[in-house]
Amino acid sequence: MSGYFITLEGIDGSGKTTQAILLEKKLVTFGKKVLLTREPGGVKGAEEIRNLLVQGKRDRWSPTTETLLFFASRKHHLEKCILPALSSNTTVICDRFSDSTMVYQGGTNLELINLIKNLNELVVGLEPDLTLLIDVDPQKSLSRGLKRSTKEDRFEMFGLEFQEKARLRYQSLAKELDRFHMIDGNGGIEATHELVWKEVSDHLNLSD
Ligand code: TMP
Repeated sequence: MSGYFITLEGIDGSGKTTQAILLEKKLVTFGKKVLLTREPGGVKGAEEIRNLLVQGKRDRWSPTTETLLFFASRKHHLEKCILPALSSNTTVICDRFSDSTMVYQGGTNLELINLIKNLNELVVGLEPDLTLLIDVDPQKSLSRGLKRSTKEDRFEMFGLEFQEKARLRYQSLAKELDRFHMIDGNGGIEATHELVWKEVSDHLNLSD
């Protein structure tokens, strides 16, 4: 595939969506064809599955059903959006991808971790070229997330302890996988963007 696949990861309210938008704008100034998309969602059918996942009560799905819904939405998104873009020389920026499932659904449950690994191989079969982890203090990010007061609070409702554990899991993935780069997201939007741009421009050999 001729394109380049960048994913942004982080706990709720980490500011990764803002960073994804700024990154898209910057890449466009370099003449790059860019697709900015997100998970769960990105295309119509997958957005419909998103509504099932991010709204409603915490116990509405069992952990396994929830994991399968994320993979159903991901498969549709891959087929309809990500793979065609990567095949046509496009830089794809995806706000969350499979690492989110490993962190949020996998947690410390070995059975689910194995299911996610297997589904990644059998159903997804695609690794990002570069993953940026926007690392922030969970206390700060949670209050930011809840302040937005959308209906999409099923995971934010999991509270501070959940977000702290998610942060630690992200940090250990970042140590484990070469494609992961941790960005300090505790500074302002511009300062974080500069750190994001440094990583991306180094990887894509672009200079200002
Ligand atoms: P967002 O607010 O970053 O768009 O993500 C929506 C929520 O979905 C967020 O709380 C994290 C959660 N999520 C998972 O639990 N597993 C996944 O695989 C993905 C992609 C998101």
